[in-house]
Amino acid sequence: MGANVKKLRLGILASGGGTNLQSIIDRCQDGSLAADIAIIICNNPGAGALDRAKKSGIPHRCINHRDFSERQDFDRSVVSALQDADVELVVLAGFMRIISDVFLDAFPQRIINIHPALLPAFPGLHVQRKALEHGARFSGCTVHFVDSGVDTGRIILQAVVPVLDDDTEATLSARILEQEHKIYPRAIQLIAEGRLRIDGRRVLVEPATAPECQAIINPPLD
Ligand code: GAR
Repeated sequence: MGANVKKLRLGILASGGGTNLQSIIDRCQDGSLAADIAIIICNNPGAGALDRAKKSGIPHRCINHRDFSERQDFDRSVVSALQDADVELVVLAGFMRIISDVFLDAFPQRIINIHPALLPAFPGLHVQRKALEHGARFSGCTVHFVDSGVDTGRIILQAVVPVLDDDTEATLSARILEQEHKIYPRAIQLIAEGRLRIDGRRVLVEPATAPECQAIINPPLD
């Protein structure tokens, strides 16, 4: 990590088991990610992510979406908690709520998400199962900026994994999750270093890293 990189203040939102949250906590703690987690917000009181937040000692809140009749009111409450914590970048880590304009307007170009498929293929839910059922030979994960669509924002980083003949939804999900834990902290680090430049739909990394031009074929050639 460059010594002169100012630490980015993160607000992490999670709904589930929280393994992506944990990978970011670990990288912040070991110093390989130039970020501080200012607050962790969970919308689901039973989420494993909340236990991880408690264990970490990082400020955290449970804001249950079921306590709000309107999506915008829930979003306003989350936005105000993020603003109170002086969050610079909002990181959706398995956050299973669609966010409204109230949220987008409060953090323009400052919300990122991780999705367990190679967007733009398979947006939405249960996408590991959908990739398997479709017969895709590759799947993977995508870190992207959040816009007003469902999983339609500009792509920052992707990792590809093969789909194997004996894969189940669980085995494919685990193979993808392993890559999620690598690319999410990396995308945050690129933002902390100010290395992303938007060019239309494309997000370019500057200075660029050496390109990987090797094609992969699945099933492999004999
Ligand atoms: C991850 O696979 C993440 O990509 C996915 O939920 C899982 C959360 O796991 N997110 C979405 O599907 C968003 N639409 P985690 O709670 O262990 O990080």
